[in-house]
Amino acid sequence: MRKVFLISILATILVAGAGYFMSMPASLPASVLPQDYRGDTVNGKTLFYAGGCGSCHGSPKGGKCDHPRVENKEILAGGRCLKTAFGTFFVPNISPDKENGIGRWSKIDFANAMLRGVSPRGQHYFPAFPYTSYHLMPIEDVLDLKAFMNTLAPSKGRNKPHELDFPYSMRRMVGLWKWLYFDHKTAAHRKTGSASQLARGRYLVEGPAHCGECHTPRDKLGGLRRDLAYSGAPAPGGEGWIPNITPHKTGLRSWTESQIADLLATGLTPDFDSIGGEMVSVQENLAKISASDRAAIAHYLKTLKPIQGLKRPKKKKSSAK
Ligand code: HEC
Ligand code: HEC
Repeated sequence: MRKVFLISILATILVAGAGYFMSMPASLPASVLPQDYRGDTVNGKTLFYAGGCGSCHGSPKGGKCDHPRVENKEILAGGRCLKTAFGTFFVPNISPDKENGIGRWSKIDFANAMLRGVSPRGQHYFPAFPYTSYHLMPIEDVLDLKAFMNTLAPSKGRNKPHELDFPYSMRRMVGLWKWLYFDHKTAAHRKTGSASQLARGRYLVEGPAHCGECHTPRDKLGGLRRDLAYSGAPAPGGEGWIPNITPHKTGLRSWTESQIADLLATGLTPDFDSIGGEMVSVQENLAKISASDRAAIAHYLKTLKPIQGLKRPKKKKSSAK
């Protein structure tokens, strides 16, 4: 009897200990920063718009937190609320303001947020902040992005605490989530591959432009279903469906690369429908990057494996589009 008791205590300690280590935030050391690197604000602006930072971190139109559009994408006052299955996230101020924004952050603080999802105080960020894609950025690109963001106006917007359901509200839990879904090994030290159009397209789609964060379905714990990458997903707010963008017949098979690139530039589909929903803001951002980057994105999408994707549930009459 006593033996069983001791063994179960030991097992509990082991599991707790493993959980403790597995959930520990992993920060980058300052030594990963390239020496005397002066950020390139032009490249930084491209990454800012490819990354859609302003779509989430701008202040919501009319001060209504759940308004899908923001007042000004270059004033990063925060204040939007993002409703998810785990609770509501309030997007923080990331303007260069020293009190309420990130004006006091060092380069390595910023790199840790973008590449590791770890705050300057050593806590995990929730993956509602898509560092799960941004972490594919090479460190030079991260520093270019910061250099551009430093040129924007400081804003006094105050942060609000998230309203999450237990146990999702525990930041330490995100460590276990990262252990399951977040690949720590990639990123950080890689140099920008200027190489081919394909490589550029893959980088933008998978990294900064984080297309899969919306177009790939998630499992119950919010992890991306890589086996169904880009094949369409229910919208996170619960209403609507995000389309398949693989070259499957239920996706973009009939679209040419230039039709895809045109959509990204103008918001118009080949049938002259205008794009709707959350894609409006994404498209406005992509209209600001170069035509060759949009072409690279379109090119990469056409090389994806065609995937049928999940079955879209039947639409209720009221929400028919
Ligand atoms: C889909 C919405 C979304 C997008 C797009 C987004 N963020 Fe965020 N971001 C968030 C949320 C939500 C948080 C809060 C995370 C938390 O508290 O754990 C956050 C947190 C941050 C933080 C930490 C701020 C702090 O006070 O600790 C930084 C820095 C940041 N984001 C930078 C960026 C940059 C740069 C981009 C563009 C490349 C970007 N974000 C794009 C939603 C977003
Ligand atoms: C914030 C979520 C979000 C992100 C990020 C996002 N999309 Fe979308 N996308 C949508 C939604 C929602 C729609 C459906 C729009 C509609 O209903 O008109 C859509 C539609 C599209 C369409 C039109 C497909 C069709 O069949 O009509 C294409 C192409 C597309 N997205 C490509 C991309 C690419 C490329 C990226 C990355 C650069 C991207 N999207 C990032 C949400 C997103």
